[in-house]
Amino acid sequence: VTAGRWTYAAAPHGGDPPLASPDYKSTRLRAPLRPPVPIPQTPTERSGPAFGAETLAPLDDLSRTEGGDAQGQRIIVHGRVLDGRGLPVPRTLVEVWQANAAGRYAHEADQHAAPLDPHFSGVGRFWTGEGGAFRFVTIKPGAYPWRNHWNAWRPAHIHLSLFGEAFAQRLVTQMYFPDDPLLSHDPIFNAIPDEGARRRLVSRFDLEGSEPERALAFHFDIVLRGRESTPFEEPRR
Ligand SMILES: [Fe+2]
Repeated sequence: VTAGRWTYAAAPHGGDPPLASPDYKSTRLRAPLRPPVPIPQTPTERSGPAFGAETLAPLDDLSRTEGGDAQGQRIIVHGRVLDGRGLPVPRTLVEVWQANAAGRYAHEADQHAAPLDPHFSGVGRFWTGEGGAFRFVTIKPGAYPWRNHWNAWRPAHIHLSLFGEAFAQRLVTQMYFPDDPLLSHDPIFNAIPDEGARRRLVSRFDLEGSEPERALAFHFDIVLRGRESTPFEEPRR
């Protein structure tokens, strides 16, 4: 990948974004300048340690704490984790993190002048079931400014990480919301070269899955490999 005076190693895998995407400024600093060196996987990388459902309690309702309800639009996000053949991937640890309804992360590095919510941590985790399905309840995240360029705002999004059977098997991606006017302006979303692959990061509004008087639903499937693969933030081998 050549961008201006920089030449970067590593090519995109399928619909994944390249490691260097000049409009997404911080990739200019962190993209490797030399080809990656393959490290042969040993049983250590292919097996444990991994967190199982017996060692961690699920946190699948981010919309409230013991002290009260979080502020904002309550939503349900559900879908399945599938392999390249469309078969379900059960027992996968999915972790999520996101900004609150006002567009601020509960993290010291986030100094955006938007209110924090004492009843919203913005982090969750859960495992896929036998059919590869997952479901969590949260608050629709707000857009936030990120200083990549003048007047830069991230579209509303939820970060997701998937662990396989070992820590070395990790994939990271982001889920977006339909009809967000910021998508066409976002250098991270648009770092994904293929329009079809970009669409696979946008969840689908699901009226059927919504709960009357309580929460709207959005459907988001995560496909690990193949033509319908979800774009991930690191190259896969
Ligand atoms: Fe974010």
